[in-house]
Amino acid sequence: MIKVITYGTFDLFHEGHYRLLQRAKGLGDYLIVGVTTEAYDKARGKLNVVDSLVTRIENVRKAGFPDEIIIEETPGQKVNDIRKYHIDIFAIGSDWIGHFDYLKDYCQVVYLERTKNISSTMLREQNSPIQRIGMIGTGRIGERFIPEAKLVSGISMQGVYNPHIESAVKFADKWEIDAYKDLEEFYRAVDVVYIASPHETHYGYIKSALEHGKHVLCEKPMVLKKVQAEELFLYAKEKNLILFEGIKTAYCPGFHKLLGIACSGTIGNIRNVEACFTKLEQQENREMTDSVYGGSFTELGSYVIFPILKLFGKDFETVQFDTIKNENGLDIFTKVSLRYPAGIATATCGLGVKSEGRLLIAGTKGYIVAEAPWWKTSYFEVHYEDTKKIEKYSEIFLGDGLRYEISDFLSTINGNASSEFKLTRGESIVMADIMESFLKAEMRKV
Ligand code: CTP
Repeated sequence: MIKVITYGTFDLFHEGHYRLLQRAKGLGDYLIVGVTTEAYDKARGKLNVVDSLVTRIENVRKAGFPDEIIIEETPGQKVNDIRKYHIDIFAIGSDWIGHFDYLKDYCQVVYLERTKNISSTMLREQNSPIQRIGMIGTGRIGERFIPEAKLVSGISMQGVYNPHIESAVKFADKWEIDAYKDLEEFYRAVDVVYIASPHETHYGYIKSALEHGKHVLCEKPMVLKKVQAEELFLYAKEKNLILFEGIKTAYCPGFHKLLGIACSGTIGNIRNVEACFTKLEQQENREMTDSVYGGSFTELGSYVIFPILKLFGKDFETVQFDTIKNENGLDIFTKVSLRYPAGIATATCGLGVKSEGRLLIAGTKGYIVAEAPWWKTSYFEVHYEDTKKIEKYSEIFLGDGLRYEISDFLSTINGNASSEFKLTRGESIVMADIMESFLKAEMRKV
């Protein structure tokens, strides 16, 4: 009996997939099809897959050719599968020519001609037209956003708005996009808006973008007052628009793995969370000089509060802030203590004091530790009383990681997936509330 194996995502099952499976089956007597998991697709940079794994498997099965369907979870799996299932032929579409020649050491490798003019990517784009994205603000985060947005299919970078037109033009020239100084004109040219302007301008821009019927992805901290967050989410809902707060940690696959393990009971009941993020900033930068909106907490607080809300929830009993200030009266190091009915948490951040910067989750049976940069989670460990027992987990984190949040934002707009559970509106509102309490405690007049 000749055994054949093939692999694919098989998203939005189409004729190209059908013909590939048909010919693969024709190569032998028994066909095994490996369907990729969502996590694996994300890890290899294939974002925006529409159908769930269950649907994709069901569609492959319905095609009628496979004798067996397996799941593909890791890059090194193919060699193992070929050995394990005693495979004679590995078949794949001609878009992969040469790529799998290394498997020739184990079996015959056949590249089948790809069916022309059809692909999942094409169907995804037909189902949901390309979203033209416009950026407000031209700061450092904006520089990181554009290369990441380019990697997400279904979105195209249209232009940038900055009231200081020289900055907009300089930025636009560099990235070969359009520069706008007129906000109305900008809104006419784009479908969705990414806000990366100074914190205090977020509220106004979000409101005006929503008024113009645009979906919004806004950098953290989205707003600095609870009522503003509540108002904006309500307004977005009324207008049937998506409003996302861009905390990249929330959307990265590694952090999800970590949350899943933390909440699975492996380390028992969680009693303490310590999250720390420090980044030494130049003295002359806005973060160190803007006496109303600058400082460590407005800059980095969202990152360190976020895991605490994820693990302990929104209903803390008390919150307390301790800061070390610079000569401008700005916090260069801040420690926030939160008390919950069954646990305690500290969120530490600094722009002028360097610390270890780790995430530690302590439970009644063990603890999880993720070293800096845990906010771009790619590795963490689970430790127990028995020091010899350490579980190690890793997950791919590609580039700057903004691609994950952009991809989730886009899928939500297109109605393909809801990522609300990753960072809920309620959590964003509580974060704004904590920001507000902090600014009040610091007696800043915002
Ligand atoms: N395939 C094919 N002809 C097509 C599209 C896909 O023969 N027109 C083959 C691929 O070469 C692969 C299998 O079908 O062997 C599964 O491919 P997959 O990546 O799931 O499909 P694509 O349509 O190429 O998906 P995407 O656009 O997301 O890359």
